[in-house]
Amino acid sequence: MNKVLITTLLSSLLAIPAIANTAFTNGKDAVSYRQASFQLIRHNMGDIQDMIRGNVAFDAERVQRRAEALALLSQLPWESFTVPGAQEAGGKVKPAIWNNLPEVQERGEKLAADAAALLAAAKTAEQAEIRKAFGDFARNCKACHDKYKAD
Ligand code: HEC
Repeated sequence: MNKVLITTLLSSLLAIPAIANTAFTNGKDAVSYRQASFQLIRHNMGDIQDMIRGNVAFDAERVQRRAEALALLSQLPWESFTVPGAQEAGGKVKPAIWNNLPEVQERGEKLAADAAALLAAAKTAEQAEIRKAFGDFARNCKACHDKYKAD
């Protein structure tokens, strides 16, 4: 390998740390990562809710696609609360959250478990099963928001 090529390769490798601030090292990024995850949860959940309410035609394959997204998305927000600097970075959280992180984590795990159950129900394509699993999943949101989300 010639010297010019090596230098070029090295400088492109060295350029990588220029984007080193990520949601897992930077409090402000952690807040946007969390809020973005919640927004995607809301959109995917809303589509299933529309189908359950009859606003949109029921489509078992579409429910399954949304439930697959929710099973993944419901795992994402929680890590962001433990990133160094997250507390100082703000977000619309009640201060009580910072003294109760293990409980928040448990609630997050419960949401993810209920999302997995919703996905299992979606795979049966049985509307009654989907409705029940959806109700269980949805109950988590308000319970946690009342306690930890600021208006
Ligand atoms: C374990 C607690 C918890 C659970 C469960 C939870 N949330 Fe939240 N949610 C929060 C907190 C805390 C915030 C504020 C985050 C911030 O601004 O940093 C929030 C914010 C949001 C936001 C606003 C995001 C933004 O752009 O500012 C939406 C939308 C949302 N949640 C939807 C949901 C939905 C839908 C569910 C249920 C499927 C849910 N959340 C479940 C804690 C929770």
